[in-house]
Amino acid sequence: MDVMGKFIEKYVPLINRELDRVTRGFPENVYNAARHLLLAGGKRVRPSLTLTYARMLGGEEGEDSALPFAVSVELLHNFTLIHDDIMDKDEFRRGVKTVHTVFGENIAILAGDLLFAISFENALSNEKVQPENRVKAVNLLSQASRIVAEGQALDVSFEESWDVKLEDYLDMIYRKTGALIEAATGMGALAVTQNDGIVRNARIYGKNIGIAFQLRDDVLGVFGDPSKTGKPIYSDIARAKKTVLILYALSNLNIDESERLKEILEGKTTDIELLKEAAGLIEKSGAKEYALNLAYKYSKDAIEMVEKTNAVDEDARKALVEFAKFVVEREK
Ligand code: IPE
Ligand code: IPE
Ligand code: MG
Ligand code: MG
Repeated sequence: MDVMGKFIEKYVPLINRELDRVTRGFPENVYNAARHLLLAGGKRVRPSLTLTYARMLGGEEGEDSALPFAVSVELLHNFTLIHDDIMDKDEFRRGVKTVHTVFGENIAILAGDLLFAISFENALSNEKVQPENRVKAVNLLSQASRIVAEGQALDVSFEESWDVKLEDYLDMIYRKTGALIEAATGMGALAVTQNDGIVRNARIYGKNIGIAFQLRDDVLGVFGDPSKTGKPIYSDIARAKKTVLILYALSNLNIDESERLKEILEGKTTDIELLKEAAGLIEKSGAKEYALNLAYKYSKDAIEMVEKTNAVDEDARKALVEFAKFVVEREK
């Protein structure tokens, strides 16, 4: 197994144990709703990045100090997913029914709110990190929450817009996905160091990983296998999301094909034949290759960042290089 796989294998049980511990309370139905998605699996990429980054900078002790921060990042992530599935009207995630589908929208909104709040409480109570760095870490979490909300607002507004540029899309995905991964690695660094430059580099690594991760997510949304991703296919087409694939296809197909694609998107259809036709047009345009090439550029920038970092643990550095490749090549 690769080094990254070894780290993840060790981290996932630790993370899951903590997630289970910090999400118990009353009334039971809203906690059950919060735990429904949280305990349904998930790759735990973000908390694993927090722990691996801390390990690279501070060895085993650093990793240990970062655990509560890692857990907070995963909690915040799950909050965003629950609300995202309401906004995107998606029925499956992690191979199970989405929270609002099972518990209703009201309880799902509240379940998200619980995870959001617990995320902050949990990070603040990390006694293995001195108060000054704890405050900085919570500040990163707070900034990420705000930026994700901005990104989600843009993502939703783009559904109705036809003059979204690639640049707008890249800014939007930095916000909705990059900002939290930026916080994840930044918090890993803050568990270990007071050095602002090192924390800044950790954030830049995470930001690039995050953008690459979302580019791959958008590819999987059209070309992925739902039995692997655990998520529905063609949902982005049905909602006329302005993903990299759709933007590229609209401006690179010939005029007739481009107009046909736009017509299908404007219909906000759930008809599988029409969705497949749109996916065929996207494929024909070469959008997938374009998106993956772009993702590799961000991945490469992330790799450069960890390669120039002073590492205490070389295996962790290697794992972070592997993470940068994994985010672009993943099938789930
Ligand atoms: C899904 O994130 C949301 C995006 C930002 C694309 P993940 O692909 O990390 O989802 P889980 O946590 O593994 O389910
Ligand atoms: C991912 O949004 C970002 C957040 C959840 C904040 P998407 O809507 O693109 O992700 P999936 O494909 O539903 O996981
Ligand atoms: Mg979604
Ligand atoms: Mg969304």
